[in-house]
Amino acid sequence: MVVIQAIRGTRDILPGEVGYWQFVEQTAREILGRAACLEIRTPIFEPTELFERGIGEATDVVGKEMYSFMDKGDRSLTLRPEGTAGVVRSYIGNKLHGVGGLQRLWYVGPMFRYERPQAGRQRQFHQLGLEMLGTAAVRADAEAIALAMDILAAVGLVDIRLEVNSLGTKEDRVSYRAALVDYLTPYKEELDPDSQDRLTRNPLRILDSKVERTQEILQAAPLLGTSLSVESQQRFDRVLSLLTDLGIQYEINPKLVRGLDYYSHTAFEFQSVRFGAVGGGGRYDGLVQELGGPETPAIGWAIGLERLIGLLQELRSAPGSAMDVYIVSRGEKAEAQALGIAQKLRSTGLKVEMDLSGSAFNKQFGRADRSGARVCVILGGE
Ligand code: HAM
Repeated sequence: MVVIQAIRGTRDILPGEVGYWQFVEQTAREILGRAACLEIRTPIFEPTELFERGIGEATDVVGKEMYSFMDKGDRSLTLRPEGTAGVVRSYIGNKLHGVGGLQRLWYVGPMFRYERPQAGRQRQFHQLGLEMLGTAAVRADAEAIALAMDILAAVGLVDIRLEVNSLGTKEDRVSYRAALVDYLTPYKEELDPDSQDRLTRNPLRILDSKVERTQEILQAAPLLGTSLSVESQQRFDRVLSLLTDLGIQYEINPKLVRGLDYYSHTAFEFQSVRFGAVGGGGRYDGLVQELGGPETPAIGWAIGLERLIGLLQELRSAPGSAMDVYIVSRGEKAEAQALGIAQKLRSTGLKVEMDLSGSAFNKQFGRADRSGARVCVILGGE
């Protein structure tokens, strides 16, 4: 019989690893809960159009990586490649703006991108994300970043580098885009094929290229910072000074542009040596309106949990849930009693594992040892 394999780019999170996941989720839930953030759970699939309009057709995510399909009603649906677009759709559709004030919404769950699987890159992966909708305050940018840094530090990841940049306004980017295209066009033939393609479709993304020759050419390219309006630059300076006040270290990366089209002003990434970006985010002041809602400035981020947990596994063993009590029993009467005792102890809040094997005592003792329980209850006929 042919054994059915898991789909390429997907993984099972097995019991030996799940302790990390529960620990990270619990830590995030506590930190975000203390900051007035509320959890939101949106569907795994959405109309394809949501991502096309939200993330942008010229992005890799929409252009190459979406899991899209027609359902039986002939609608084009897509497994969500990220969380922001769905949260914004929900915010608009459920009139959460009508509730008034700022909404701080967080989520955790699987996302899907058809990428080439490699270390830290899967086709089904998980994000923990925060979206703060309804505020243009500079303080919101600093608060959002600080909360992510708090979560990373609380789980034990202290050597994560924060990179920040400002993408300015749409107008700032239009003038930058023109300057960049002017600069790169004479080098067109020397650029890698992806970058050549982006020159007309999405030139800012060329800055992200990992190809050496392209990076050489970019060395003398104009920087986005030089196209920022005075207001945009001042705004960015205020964000940076708030980060400094909070004691958060950052590096300005003038080439940080992010892979999704909805960003404006502050953009940032949490960088690790092993996987590159563990997370990223930024301000997206135009997205709510773009998707049919009222004018609503917003900022958010998402952290990739496979990457975060991959780093954590190098630092510590799996946060466990060892048993308190292990019950060993042998013989009909003792075995019957064991069940009642196990239930009674569990009802007091203890974690109790009962050996069901009926095998020789020494074998059961071996398992009791390995369970990590502090106490072993032994029931026998004599
Ligand atoms: P993103 O940078 O596309 O941003 O993804 C955030 C994080 O998700 C990445 O830094 C990475 O850790 C993880 N990630 C992305 N793709 C994969 C993959 N194929 N396998 C494993 N991990 C992956 C967003 O998704 C934005 N929605 C973030 C945001 C929220 N911006 C504003 N609000």
